[in-house]
Amino acid sequence: MATEDPQAQYFENNPAPKQLRKHEALVREFIEYHISTNPETRIVLVTSGGTTVPLENQTVRFIDNFSAGTRGATSAEYFVRAGYAVIFLHREYSLLPYSRHYSHSTNCFLDFMEGSAGGDVVVRQEYQMKMKQVLEEYQYAKKNRLLLMLPYVTVNEYLFELRSLATLLQPVGSRALFYLAAAVSDFFIPRDRMEEHKIQSSTVENGKKTGNGTQLVINLDPVPKFLSTLVHSWASRESMIVSFKLETDPNLLVSKAEQALHKYGHDLVIGNLLTTRKWEVVFVRTGEERWVRVPKAKRSRSVSGIEELVGRADKKKDAAKKDEVDL
Ligand code: PMT
Repeated sequence: MATEDPQAQYFENNPAPKQLRKHEALVREFIEYHISTNPETRIVLVTSGGTTVPLENQTVRFIDNFSAGTRGATSAEYFVRAGYAVIFLHREYSLLPYSRHYSHSTNCFLDFMEGSAGGDVVVRQEYQMKMKQVLEEYQYAKKNRLLLMLPYVTVNEYLFELRSLATLLQPVGSRALFYLAAAVSDFFIPRDRMEEHKIQSSTVENGKKTGNGTQLVINLDPVPKFLSTLVHSWASRESMIVSFKLETDPNLLVSKAEQALHKYGHDLVIGNLLTTRKWEVVFVRTGEERWVRVPKAKRSRSVSGIEELVGRADKKKDAAKKDEVDL
């Protein structure tokens, strides 16, 4: 029997991604490994990057969501440092933990190296210390199997993956953390309305040419809000759920974060503004609003940005009372 619930309808009407079963098997194995090695291990699901909305089934064009994956990739490194095993659900080709230090488009990784004719290629002297530290952390995470990378591209893939991962994490209970930093599309084209092939520039709709043949009119449906279902049904009641709120208008940020907290009933909303997201965030919990800011003087030379600061502020309770926390 067909269901009225928009979330359930979504999964009935849209196809499961091809890689879902494989990802589920990897996650099951990852969780079992960590629980059997150390039953106290905490596991975090970090979502990162932006989802796409394809316009065609055989996709040539798509609508994208803003996010480089910096927040998610950086946070994943700090979670590993803090002792978590990390499931990193990320947009394919967005920034990854560890390699993010060398993948910025203005910083080609080859610029970090040098080599003479006939000699070895080596890391340049000035980058040795930093690269050694990143390499050691990367090797530590790899050796201890602390990082499981799962890519997605579309909003549909993301939602199916999120539902599966939350369900698989249920036995982890209060040692599971959801850290939802991905930028998730709010609108999409349902499968039954999606073109199979590349949309032609002269499109015929209902027997009529749309516009003068140069206009493309796209009709999008809202993506059902999944945070509430995640909190109340997919995830264990004992797990901790942290969502992010991105706004561009400073006057809206805190009230929208409070609304989300109230509406979805989860643990914490971290608010950030598009233009200042690397330097300041606001933690919104029931009855509490706490800003964490990188001091102005340290903004340009801070490599790790606000994620490092948040880690330190959490350890240092006094710091929580200050507006700016020193790095
Ligand atoms: O990667 P960077 O370039 O470093 O950028 C990081 C970031 C700015 C993307 C990140 O810090 C951030 O703010 N991520 C959340 C952005 C976002 O999607 O905000 P939103 O207001 O659209 O969604 C808020 C929450 O609702 C999210 O937790 C989302 O998972 C959830 N949601 C969204 C859409 C939807 N259909 N259902 C949902 O449940």
